Amino acid sequence: MPYIVAIIAGLSGFLFGYDEGVIAGALSSLRQAFTFSPWLEGCMTAAVPFGALFGSLAGGWLADRCGRRGALILAGTLFSIGAVVSSLAWDAASLTAARLAIGLAIGLAAVAAPLYISENAPARHRGMLVSFYQLAITLGILGAYIAGYGFEGSWRTMFAIGMVPGVILAIAMATMHDTPRWLMLRGRETEAHGALIRNGLGAQAEAELEGIRRSIAATPATVRWSALFSRRVLPATTVAVGLFILQQLSGINAVIYYAPLVFHEAGFGSHGAQLLATIGIGVVNVAMTLVSMALIDRIGRRRMLYIGFAGAALSLAVIAGAAASNLPWLNAVAFASLLAYIAAFAISIGPLPWLMMSEIFPIDVRPLGMGLASIANWAFNALVVFAFPALLGMVGLTGVFAGFAIACLVGVIFTWALVPETTGASLEDIEARLSSGERLRDMTRVA
Ligand code: GLC
Repeated sequence: MPYIVAIIAGLSGFLFGYDEGVIAGALSSLRQAFTFSPWLEGCMTAAVPFGALFGSLAGGWLADRCGRRGALILAGTLFSIGAVVSSLAWDAASLTAARLAIGLAIGLAAVAAPLYISENAPARHRGMLVSFYQLAITLGILGAYIAGYGFEGSWRTMFAIGMVPGVILAIAMATMHDTPRWLMLRGRETEAHGALIRNGLGAQAEAELEGIRRSIAATPATVRWSALFSRRVLPATTVAVGLFILQQLSGINAVIYYAPLVFHEAGFGSHGAQLLATIGIGVVNVAMTLVSMALIDRIGRRRMLYIGFAGAALSLAVIAGAAASNLPWLNAVAFASLLAYIAAFAISIGPLPWLMMSEIFPIDVRPLGMGLASIANWAFNALVVFAFPALLGMVGLTGVFAGFAIACLVGVIFTWALVPETTGASLEDIEARLSSGERLRDMTRVA
């Protein structure tokens, strides 16, 4: 059962990745269809991350009000409407509005889906299941790259494809149960018990229910945003928000959105070669995310983060150096190091912030905390994506990638100083340890 839960919620991750990646392939034919001023083109492209920022702002509140399931049904509906309208768009304004709706759906789903998965998953599989969400994002990105290559010139088809998973998500979520924790928060004990049974807990359902009951009893009725900055929660807020800021400053979306441009800068001559190399990035991203899923509940979150940030810093530094050196084999070195960078990212920096934000907040502030962490993700995502072309003009590939490498080094230090070890502990364990006065940063050993 938890696997079905993950697959359904994972559909929203697929849409996240697809709608992020699709604009790269669609942009050149869109320019021919509509006359964009540069300002309008910026608005249209930015509509997705901008909408996502607001979606994640509302996501925590909605996931509390309408349930994790309700928020995902709404997201699926918005995705479908956005896909239909964008594929039928008659001018830049209608396209921008449709992309705004898609962005809202992405933001909503980015809060609700990891919450839905982690609250339905048994502790020993939680890491693997939540990383399934990241796998779905990478599959969506790869799907968009392939669609961009296969349907070159036909942006309406590329946008319309997004409707299929949107409709499936809305309908499938309508047939699912909400999470046991949310049902208990609403006082719906019998349903919560049923949900635990359907999650495969069997005889342990009663004990689990008791654990949830206890943690809810300790929960205040209304929670404000300011609670995220209280002494009790601030360490968790710092870790979740910090990991996302570092994830984005590692430069991942400069590569994901502008891969053909990066390959061009690195000396790949033909457009066809740039697009194929881009698909190569998509494939490594998916493959290494799979490896990460196999390792994540065994190796320990902290060690995974060290490997990811250090590996990414090293490969980024090699790309920066290769770009500065103008060597004849620059192509091969840049391509190999870019793939190494994607591998280091996908194995750790990609999935871990999503996972950790769903496990380190106490239950009362969890949706709000995850909402704030997602906001940080989208704000810095937009920042990097917008600033990249301008920065490239100013300091070149060497300068920009050196900056990303420095951010990854900061990631190593951040992990060492602040990130707790949550591998193998149940959400209730983590909460109990925190409320017994243990500091988050002292949790550095695998449970
Ligand atoms: C993570 C990031 C997202 C990025 C993706 C790439 O999910 O949050 O911004 O596009 O990884 O795989």
